[in-house]
Amino acid sequence: MMNTTTEMLGLSGVNFNSFFPNIVACGTNLSISKDVVFGKNVRIGNNVVIYKSVFGDNVVIGDNVVVGRPPIPPFRKNEYKMGDPVAAVFGSNIVLGTGTIIYAGATIGNNFYAADSVIIREDTIIGDFVSIGKQGVIEHHCKLGNKIKIQTGALLGEFMEIEDYAFIGPKVVAACDKFMDRTPGNKFTPPRIKFGARIGALVVLNPGVTVGKEALVASGAVVTKDVPDFKIVMGVPAKIVQDVPEEQLISNLESF
Ligand SMILES: CC(C)(COP(=O)(O)OP(=O)(O)OC[C@H]1O[C@@H](n2cnc3c(N)ncnc32)[C@H](O)[C@@H]1OP(=O)(O)O)[C@@H](O)C(=O)NCCC(=O)NCCS
Repeated sequence: MMNTTTEMLGLSGVNFNSFFPNIVACGTNLSISKDVVFGKNVRIGNNVVIYKSVFGDNVVIGDNVVVGRPPIPPFRKNEYKMGDPVAAVFGSNIVLGTGTIIYAGATIGNNFYAADSVIIREDTIIGDFVSIGKQGVIEHHCKLGNKIKIQTGALLGEFMEIEDYAFIGPKVVAACDKFMDRTPGNKFTPPRIKFGARIGALVVLNPGVTVGKEALVASGAVVTKDVPDFKIVMGVPAKIVQDVPEEQLISNLESF
């Protein structure tokens, strides 16, 4: 549903300051909703669109970013479509890289870093100290904790829950719809990633699997069954090969 209820201001770097004095620098060709709230020290690039949103302090918004993007229902009936525009809400110390799109209703904590072309869908909630690599896609209604690293090109499916200190390698795919549009009730059964779990490059997590606390999934694995806490799994389909070495556990690492 397009956002038609808020008035958008076209700003060009010469008149922004009278509306938004907390913007300390901005490029040209901006379109910003009148009801956007900015904290202190906000820097905005060129060709940026910001719908209803709330920002804390120290925000860098790169070129071609869209924030608060209203979800547009697909051509088929979609139970997740939203009504009136809902704000995208951010804490402080935020970087949104070039071409990033944050949907309406996303809630993001402090110290967030999105590299270029990241997409975060509506109603997803993200904690503090989370970074997302280039072209990472977080689908709608996901819940991410704190201190999570997501690398380039990862795709995290709808309704996923990811606990603190998880690491998601490049091009991981977390699938949510087992029978691909023919799952009874069209219910999503997202994988779940527990505290401190690490997922290697190019891993596929099948719908519904849980990767246990501090577990490690080797690169290229296809995970079809739950991974127990503290275990390493490998291969297609993924099998347990050993325990995670003690010295790699977060509780034994001084820097965490
Ligand atoms: C699982 C992992 C941690 C194992 O590392 P390791 O303990 O040093 O293991 P080794 O490299 O000594 O390999 C041990 C055996 O496992 C095999 N192996 C290693 N990684 C494998 C993988 N991803 N899939 C299948 N087999 C693998 C090796 O071929 C070797 O087999 P062999 O005993 O028959 O020779 C590592 O291989 C891995 O996959 N890390 C993930 C890296 C990643 O994706 N990072 C993302 C950010 S860039």
